[in-house]
Amino acid sequence: MRRLAHISDLHFGRTNPAVVEGLITELNRDRPDLVIASGDFTMRARKLEYAAARAFLARLDAPWIAVPGNHDISPFHLVQRFLRPFARYRRYIAPSTEPTHLDDEIGIVCLNTVRTWAPEADWSQGKIRRRQIVQAEARLAAMPAHVFRIVVGHHPFMPPPWDEEARLVGRADLALAAFRRQGVGLTLAGHLHRHYARFAEADASGAANDTVDRGVMRGRRGHLLAVQAGSATSTRLRGSEPNAYNRIVIADGAATVTVRLWHGSGWRDAE
Ligand SMILES: [Fe+2]
Ligand SMILES: [Fe+2]
Repeated sequence: MRRLAHISDLHFGRTNPAVVEGLITELNRDRPDLVIASGDFTMRARKLEYAAARAFLARLDAPWIAVPGNHDISPFHLVQRFLRPFARYRRYIAPSTEPTHLDDEIGIVCLNTVRTWAPEADWSQGKIRRRQIVQAEARLAAMPAHVFRIVVGHHPFMPPPWDEEARLVGRADLALAAFRRQGVGLTLAGHLHRHYARFAEADASGAANDTVDRGVMRGRRGHLLAVQAGSATSTRLRGSEPNAYNRIVIADGAATVTVRLWHGSGWRDAE
C-alpha cells in the first residue's frame, strides 16, 4: 500500500498563511509515503515567492516530487523567460522539471507541460511535445508490470464534468492514448483551481460512475482515472470552492481518492 498526498497551485505570494500552516500540520501528522505537487508554486516566479515555497517543502517530513506550473516562470523578465525559463525553479524547487519515481508498488512519470511561448495569445495554456510523449511512454514501459503507474503534469488532461469544452493541455488526446497503452491508472494535475476526478473512457454506461462513493473515487490499473486538485493554499479560489488537496491510497492495483477541504481551522473529507 502507498499513501500519497496530491497538492497543487500553492501560489506563494498569494497564500493564506493559516492554510499553509494547517497543510503542513496535516501532512506531517498524516505522514504520506510521498507528497506530489503538481505546479504553480508561486504567483510571479519572484525570488521571495520561491524562497517561501522552498521553506514550505523543507518543513514537510514526507519526501516529495513536483512539476512546475505556468506561474513558475517569470512573466516580467523576457530574457530569463526565453533563455532560462526554469532556472529559478531548478534552484529553489528541484534540479529536474520531469522527475520520475519508482518503488516496488508505484511508478510515477512527471511531465513539464509549461510552455514559454505559444502562437496563441494565451501563454498560460500548457502543451506536451510529441517527444515528451514518446519519452514518457518509454519510461512507463520500462517499469515492472506490477507497479501502479501514475503520470503527473500541471495542466489538465481531462475537462471538468461541468465544462466539456474546457481547455486541456495541448495534445492531451495523444498523451492519454499513450498512458492507456501503458496501463496508467492515474493522472494528477491542477491549474484550474477546481477539484474533480473522472475516468478517461468515454463511458456513459455507468460502469465508471458506480465507483464514485460520497466524494471518494476509485481508479484501477488499466482504467485511467484523471484527478485534478484544487488550490491547496492560495487565496485565488474559483467559485465557492475552498482550498483543497487529494489524499490517495494505492492498494491492490487500485487508487482511492479522497478530497480534503479546508473548513477554516482544519481539513475534512469532501461530501
Ligand atoms: Fe494556479
Ligand atoms: Fe496554472
